[in-house]
Amino acid sequence: MNINDIQSFVPQVRTLMGPGPSDVHPRISAAMSRPTIGHLDPQFVSMMDEIKVLLQYAFQTKNELTIPVSAPGSAGMETCFVNLVEPGDKVIVCQNGVFGGRMKENVTRAGGVAVMVEDEWGHAVDPQKLEDALKAHPDAKIVAFVHAETSTGAQSDAKTLCEIAHQHGCLTIVDTVTSLGGTPIKVDEWGIDAVYSGTQKCLSCTPGLSPVSFSDAAVDKIKQRQAPVQSWFLDLNLVMGYWGSGAKRAYHHTAPINTLYALHEALVILKEEGLENAWARHAANHQLLKQGLEKLGLEFIVREQDRLPQLNAVTVANGVDEAEVRSRLLNEYNLEIGAGLGALAGKIWRIGLMGYASNPKNIMYCVGALETILKKD
Ligand SMILES: Cc1ncc(COP(=O)(O)O)c(C=O)c1O
Repeated sequence: MNINDIQSFVPQVRTLMGPGPSDVHPRISAAMSRPTIGHLDPQFVSMMDEIKVLLQYAFQTKNELTIPVSAPGSAGMETCFVNLVEPGDKVIVCQNGVFGGRMKENVTRAGGVAVMVEDEWGHAVDPQKLEDALKAHPDAKIVAFVHAETSTGAQSDAKTLCEIAHQHGCLTIVDTVTSLGGTPIKVDEWGIDAVYSGTQKCLSCTPGLSPVSFSDAAVDKIKQRQAPVQSWFLDLNLVMGYWGSGAKRAYHHTAPINTLYALHEALVILKEEGLENAWARHAANHQLLKQGLEKLGLEFIVREQDRLPQLNAVTVANGVDEAEVRSRLLNEYNLEIGAGLGALAGKIWRIGLMGYASNPKNIMYCVGALETILKKD
């Protein structure tokens, strides 16, 4: 590559109907291009306070420690594990897809001992298996699971899983990267102790931030740690010096200022629509997509009652070149859908209906394009 040939990067406009990122709302893109101000500027600090209140609304929590981590969902995941898991802690990790596997990695790297509770990919986490594991491991301290498994489109019953964990004296860590804003999450009512999400899915925001929230019990465990948190950047004791309450904020790192404008706008849009309305919209659009896909003979891999409305995983028929179909959608229709991950690679498509992208126009476009391509195949 000759450096003299390189010019400004102007991507094609795509329709993003994969597992994320999803289409960014134009109001959010506009917010992002507003003037950058200092990250300790009083104007900025009061916007940070608004973000905290708006995130409390999105997560349905009164947790004081509710903030966006300045990095993508994986960093929110890591924030939960490095702060809550101390060396030697036993953590029950329920795995029913790719992202549960990452939780195990996080536990081990934080010096904890992961006990895996496995469910078939495409199934919800089985509460009975969790109960059995907790009985077999009465010394477990934490239960972790993915609420919305993006790799399969399965949704687990977070309320029941948290109830079981608490009955056995465990704290809970819940991945809601794909659920926040798309399907109900009630952090306080369900008793979630540590929760993380992402901005690039049902919030229709740009990628790069991870909203997190911690209950008082979780904060107590962090405060009582014997060993310091092994990550300096993600140590909540330090991060709170910047995101904590009161006018006095100390420099920790330079916040991604314009990305935070974007998150603020995304959360204002969510508040304007209303959480319940956003959940209902995702549910209704899922039904519309389902009708269209089933007319094309495509079958869902997740049983109906466990399906995520915002992530629709369907089986690729025998003889169809799944990668070729996706590349034709991208090249001929500027439309992105997702491939299968891990054990499901090559076997499924994952069609996202997230946030701003969850609308009937996109559904008609996607189903129409798939119909044309599959007919010719
Ligand atoms: C369920 C789940 N957890 C964690 C992540 C990681 O988030 P990120 O890619 O923003 O780091 C993703 C990303 O798709 C996800 O779907």
